[in-house]
Amino acid sequence: MGAPNRSSAVMQQRKEAPDGLDYFPTPPWATRALCEHLNQWGDISGDTVWEPACGEGHMARPLGEYFAQVVASDIHDYGFGTVHDFLSAGTLLDAPAPLDNPDWIITNPPFNKAAEFALRAAGLAREGFALLVRTAFLEGVTRHAELFSQHPPAWVLPFCERVPMVKGRVDPDAASATSYCWMIWLQHRSVSFNAAPALAWISPCRKRLERPEDYRLVPAGEVA
Ligand SMILES: C[S@@+](CC[C@H](N)C(=O)[O-])C[C@H]1O[C@@H](n2cnc3c(N)ncnc32)[C@H](O)[C@@H]1O
Repeated sequence: MGAPNRSSAVMQQRKEAPDGLDYFPTPPWATRALCEHLNQWGDISGDTVWEPACGEGHMARPLGEYFAQVVASDIHDYGFGTVHDFLSAGTLLDAPAPLDNPDWIITNPPFNKAAEFALRAAGLAREGFALLVRTAFLEGVTRHAELFSQHPPAWVLPFCERVPMVKGRVDPDAASATSYCWMIWLQHRSVSFNAAPALAWISPCRKRLERPEDYRLVPAGEVA
């Protein structure tokens, strides 16, 4: 795991996120499902990945089970990863990226900024990028004009199961009425292939990919 904040004082803190940051951490099994899909199409075990909206690391940790190096950052200091505004490019807050030339950028972005995250990732990732989004993200005239028509995803992977996400914590007993999918963009697709994003369902996998320790808060920067 790259660039963790290992200060013991910080490791013991759990810092509340301001409301506007849309902090809904991802149950780790949902990230393992993505990695299993990526592994079907190529070997990611030597690749680097940047999780640029990492929160407390609920996605960065399982990424560390599949990738050679994970660098994690977030605009807010949750005591995990470095502090970095992913959308600050060209502003006064623009700071060097915590990882140069990442092979992959993978995150669950704040929903109202997901298109901006995709456009920023498109300019940075070498192999590809993947965002966990509500399936409603597929709709929208502006989003189509500004994102999908310019950068069509290679894959759309809806979950057959619900991925229960609740504000500020992961909860094995949470229920959700919201449906989610992974969207994956590949940087080296041919133009003709661009016309047709592939759709594949993520078949039920929660039971197989979920672990009890996924729901325990572990020290910052450690891979559970
Ligand atoms: C839906 S939560 C997901 C957290 C984590 N990716 C996960 O899956 O567990 C969205 C995260 O985006 C972060 N965020 C919001 N705006 C950001 C920005 N401009 N740059 C970096 N992180 C941002 C929030 O602080 C929050 O941690």
